[in-house]
Amino acid sequence: MRVFSGIQPSGNLHLGNYLGAIVNFVKLQNTKQCIYCVVDLHSITVWQDPENLKRNIHEITAGFIASGLDPSKSIIFNQSSVQEHAELSWLLNCVARVGWLNRMTQFKEKAGKNKEKMSVGLYTYPILMAADILAYKATHVPVGDDQKQHIELARDIAQKFNIDFHDRILEITNEEEFFVLPEPQITGPVTRVMSLRDGQKKMSSSELSDMTRINLLDNADQISNKIKKAKTDSAPIPEKMSEINNRYELMNLLSIYAGIVGQSHEEVLNVFSGKQFSYLKDNLTELLVQNICPIGNEMKKIINEKEYLEKTLKEGAEKARVIAIPVLAETKKIIGLA
Ligand code: TYM
Repeated sequence: MRVFSGIQPSGNLHLGNYLGAIVNFVKLQNTKQCIYCVVDLHSITVWQDPENLKRNIHEITAGFIASGLDPSKSIIFNQSSVQEHAELSWLLNCVARVGWLNRMTQFKEKAGKNKEKMSVGLYTYPILMAADILAYKATHVPVGDDQKQHIELARDIAQKFNIDFHDRILEITNEEEFFVLPEPQITGPVTRVMSLRDGQKKMSSSELSDMTRINLLDNADQISNKIKKAKTDSAPIPEKMSEINNRYELMNLLSIYAGIVGQSHEEVLNVFSGKQFSYLKDNLTELLVQNICPIGNEMKKIINEKEYLEKTLKEGAEKARVIAIPVLAETKKIIGLA
């Protein structure tokens, strides 16, 4: 079993990244071989200020470490340092079908009406993501709910390659299949953290208003202010989950609470049913300040340790390449290129 996942260095590591992904990354590192990547090649599919990109790569790396990832247990590196990702991505471009990419909802959401003006990279992005995973023959991919479709695409690409080249794979490797079909791991009480201003939109680093998200680097005042101003409704907090229905903002606040304390929604609802929203908000603020601020403070320290960060990423890339180089070499041989 091998775990692979990645996070884009596009600024503002937020609570969605933390609860949807990083918490699970940390849990998995004690029992599995884990590879966690700062996916810088993905981030440049939309404009990134070159002056900030390096800092953002360091920010994610510091966020990983401050959240509990241990570079001696997990392989931590940045994508552009391992050239095998980009090369495998091209090979997989020739396996994936245009119709498959046209179904990707994230591209449609991100591009909106400006499809023609988007970079080609944003369109083919899920193929690079498949290459990230398949280069390591990863079996498990811990992600938030929004990445499910991309992992299904990676499975489709792996399967098509295995079928298209079946005879060559058998001849060269003595196996029936070459690529492993990766399993998405979308677990925990909160797999999709929503915006604090709109419970039907996901919390995102690309949202213009900072009030929509809790960043891991926010201080106690910022957290308190954002939770205070988070959208709610005027009905009382009910007793049963079945009574929450379309109250998306309430559901989001309860989910965040549940995610941090590691309890079920029902357990959290028991604490807050019949209480005022201000009571829920005060408690949630306290919980976030206790749990997120220490991570943010640690991140701030580590971000300044540039040599340590560079060394960690370089060593991680060396370890990653030990796995990715032979996978790419075999892929080329199977295709008939090597
Ligand atoms: P990215 O950088 O947008 O997000 C990183 C991780 O955080 C999760 N996430 C969320 N989870 C819950 N609620 C939210 N509001 C929320 N926002 C983000 C994402 O699901 C993700 O797990 N394409 C990926 C990065 C990637 C990748 C990979 C992941 C590139 N190659 C290979 C896995 C395997 C992305 O843009 O994630």
